Amino acid sequence: MDFSVKTGAPADQRTACAILPLFDGPLTGAAREIDAASGGLIRRLVRSGAASAKLGATLLVPTPSGGAAEQWLLVGCGKAAEFDAKKLCRALASAVGALKDKGIREAVSFLAWERPSGLTAYYAARLSVETVRSAVYRFDELKSDAESGEGRGRKRLSRIGLAVSNAADVAETRRGIAHGAAIANGMDLTRNLGNRPPNVCTPSHLAEQAKALAAEHDKLDVEVLTERQIEKLGMGALLSVARGTEEPPRLIVLRYNGAPKREKPIALCGKGITFDTGGISLKPPPKMDEMKFDMCGAAAVLGAMAAIAEIGPARNVVAVVPAAENMPSGRATRPGDIVKSLSGKTIEILNTDAEGRLILCDAITYAIQRFAPRYLIDVATLTGACVVALGHLHTGLFSNDETLATALLEASSRSLDTAWRLPVDEEYGESLKSNFADFANAGSRDGGASVAAAFLAKFVEGTAWAHLDIAGVAWRGESQKGATGRPVPLLVDFLLNLDAA
Ligand code: BES
Ligand code: MN
Ligand code: ZN
Repeated sequence: MDFSVKTGAPADQRTACAILPLFDGPLTGAAREIDAASGGLIRRLVRSGAASAKLGATLLVPTPSGGAAEQWLLVGCGKAAEFDAKKLCRALASAVGALKDKGIREAVSFLAWERPSGLTAYYAARLSVETVRSAVYRFDELKSDAESGEGRGRKRLSRIGLAVSNAADVAETRRGIAHGAAIANGMDLTRNLGNRPPNVCTPSHLAEQAKALAAEHDKLDVEVLTERQIEKLGMGALLSVARGTEEPPRLIVLRYNGAPKREKPIALCGKGITFDTGGISLKPPPKMDEMKFDMCGAAAVLGAMAAIAEIGPARNVVAVVPAAENMPSGRATRPGDIVKSLSGKTIEILNTDAEGRLILCDAITYAIQRFAPRYLIDVATLTGACVVALGHLHTGLFSNDETLATALLEASSRSLDTAWRLPVDEEYGESLKSNFADFANAGSRDGGASVAAAFLAKFVEGTAWAHLDIAGVAWRGESQKGATGRPVPLLVDFLLNLDAA
């Protein structure tokens, strides 16, 4: 997909399709200029009720002969005073849906020609690129007829121009396009890894993907620890999860070196359970197939690293990804087994389905001991309880550090990849007490997302830490089934804006 900046008068823009915003009330901006140049056709379409200003409504119209655009796509944008980044993206996503339906391959968007107040040219462009790329994403690697079917093959949408009214916005729009493309590339990687079936996307596959990324970018270095090395280090918690499967676990360490060595890195830990059956605490059959998405934390961390490597900011970031498959077998961990984590703390495994915290606690200890990170952020499809609390809208954010929590929340609203803060008081860990080990891996179901976070908090040793529970946002289950690529935009926005005033 190719994106470019377009300047010049709207009525002179040569394109297969001009995407024009319609607001409540009289025509404004690009729609008004083009309407004036075409004898009032748009006004008549609005007056007749054919074109609607309702957010996301679309109407495709052939233009009167002699116009620079072959067609107009009129897109409802609601009230002009309420038009913001989120509505811009909703309108643009509808527009792309209509373009795909009609097999239109090229278009110029005037949706942000007059920028909504409070939205910079950079974010207007970046968010537009992310929106278009998400709207055209499809996963057809495993369809044998990938080149047939609607919207495929030669008729794919492949070029979008972003029109700006102010020549002073061109440079920032270009930067937004470049960053948006990098973020979208990262999201595509995250979505592809998430969507791949669990017989393909194994721990070794995740490791191979990390190696491929490192081969692509000079500033990325990778190390992959094997089961023997994980054992030698003493990661008893991670190993206990992998005991029931034939697939060997991996610990993936991917470093982005953008700053001098002395600068402390930001550490990202991503839960990489390539399939979660629950283990001996077996899950019920309905929707168990969706547990192939239980590696979406790992995939998001790898996607964010890919985007960061493409953008190239001057900082150090290290990804530590524990990858394992959670299966039942004659060798699998039993409820009641006690294991020793890398930290030295012993854990009574009361529920083998609470496996994410087990692989993460060892990854967190490893990241802290080896890299002494400035901030540590873990990303995990950790609890069903987080889905109950927040649904599929917001990521659950837990943190022991106000500065970090604030920075993440601000990044989340700028990137429209939103998070909502939930509590992680120590008291949530009280139900994790064990008569036989230092603590158990499962406790009260009430407040389960906070209980899981409190478990992880026992391993962060004073490091400024945040936990992102993405169980509700990493994939869509109902319509448009598949991985979303979240929270790559949030992570990248956070990393790019760190220490900016
Ligand atoms: N991967 C699941 C969490 C999950 C469930 C994410 C459904 C998205 C949708 C996790 O490993 C798990 O099974 N968690 C348990 C924890 C419980 C046993 C303490 C849960 O949430 O039920
Ligand atoms: Mn589980
Ligand atoms: Zn899980």
